[in-house]
Amino acid sequence: MSSSTPSISDSARAIEATENAKLWERTLASKALFERAVLHMPMGVPSSFQAWDPYPVYLREGAGSTVTDVDGNKYVDFHNGFGAMIVGHAHPKVVEAIDRAARTGTHFAAPTASVVEFAEAICERFQAESVRFANSGTEATMTAIRIARAATGRDHIVKIEGSYHGHHDPVMFSVVPNSEMIGGRDAPSNMPMSLGIPPMMAEFTHVVPFNDLEMLSRLLENRGDEIACVILEPVMMNIGICEPHPGYLAGLKDLLHRHGALLIFDEVKSGATVAYGGATERYGVVPDLACWAKAICGGTPGAAFGGRADVMDIINSGAAQQGTFNGNPLVAAAGLATLTEILTRDAYDYLDALGTRLATGCADAMSAAGTPGHTVDLGAKGCISYRPTPLNNYRDFLETLPELYLASYPWALNRGIFITPGDEEQWTISVQHTEADIDGYIDQFSDFCTALGS
Ligand SMILES: Cc1ncc(COP(=O)(O)O)c(C=O)c1O
Repeated sequence: MSSSTPSISDSARAIEATENAKLWERTLASKALFERAVLHMPMGVPSSFQAWDPYPVYLREGAGSTVTDVDGNKYVDFHNGFGAMIVGHAHPKVVEAIDRAARTGTHFAAPTASVVEFAEAICERFQAESVRFANSGTEATMTAIRIARAATGRDHIVKIEGSYHGHHDPVMFSVVPNSEMIGGRDAPSNMPMSLGIPPMMAEFTHVVPFNDLEMLSRLLENRGDEIACVILEPVMMNIGICEPHPGYLAGLKDLLHRHGALLIFDEVKSGATVAYGGATERYGVVPDLACWAKAICGGTPGAAFGGRADVMDIINSGAAQQGTFNGNPLVAAAGLATLTEILTRDAYDYLDALGTRLATGCADAMSAAGTPGHTVDLGAKGCISYRPTPLNNYRDFLETLPELYLASYPWALNRGIFITPGDEEQWTISVQHTEADIDGYIDQFSDFCTALGS
């Protein structure tokens, strides 16, 4: 981390302490549930990303743009299930679709008409020719990499420094390296980011910085005939938000194709949130393969990957892709209602307007109070980043001020605004949010900036 202005960091730490004490008083049922949960689940949560120190807020229900915790505290939800809930909670069309599907059989492990329609809807929206289904973003990226390796007959892959693509072994290198682990700019470290990963797997995963074609170009010059693909988020979303420079994605595709390698977009977060057609549409570059999850399935656990039919065709001739619950009828029904009835092109006009209102309001608040930060406005997604200028890559994220975020978290929750635990995340707005919801966020954030001082 860079050194920060002492006064604002001290002020942030003082706010964090005061606001945490208030939050802990208001969340005694969460605390009690945590004490039970931790007896049977590591960290007391079903996924490590849900953990928080000293305990997470446990939720009871969601309705529209709000969630309510087990203590009965109600919040406007900007966490939105790490971006999966762009439809908002218990959307009537999703509820109706799931209800209808549940009454006619929750699972067959045989194909249905709804999964065929879902495949058609995904292909139309994301400019893909052929898709297959999975149950999570992790499975989607895992299998897209398998397909790229099979289709090219090559074993090595390239990922971006400081990026997350799920928790399967080949991509668990350089996920959130701290300044001690990161290595030099010209030689980014690719230490495994979890115990339980054989260090020898690092041989197959190469790491390059985002928004930089030079290092990749050198790698391809040396080892191009071994490299199957680059997998990346076209807009990085696990460091707040970091946009691609103009020309970067097109240059990447061109470079890879010159070396016979494939381009995989991980659109698990960006797909169906940053535009109707995801980052592929927003930045105008169509990858060879892409992965979608989170927002495409209306809050049910589904995912898909696909792209060029000639690449996907390797599944017909030897590349394994299967799964008992792939294309499950509940998920297909919820996903189809989400993509065809809720997330229409018009919905994005609405989301864009709300997103711009939120990003502008927060940026104005920071500039009025002298808070060192900027906002990013990307459709249903956006973020506050505590660094004055936009990020170009992961190393810039290491220069943000986490203490400001840590103070903002209990501050927001104590004022009825639910945000993600972790400054690497961003907000997600749903189609059920209103201007009043947005203004509520801006009001508490303006007060936060004033309290921080400059
Ligand atoms: C960009 C990206 N890819 C993949 C994943 C993995 O998705 P899942 O958690 O559904 O396995 C995530 C999860 O946050 C993600 O943000």
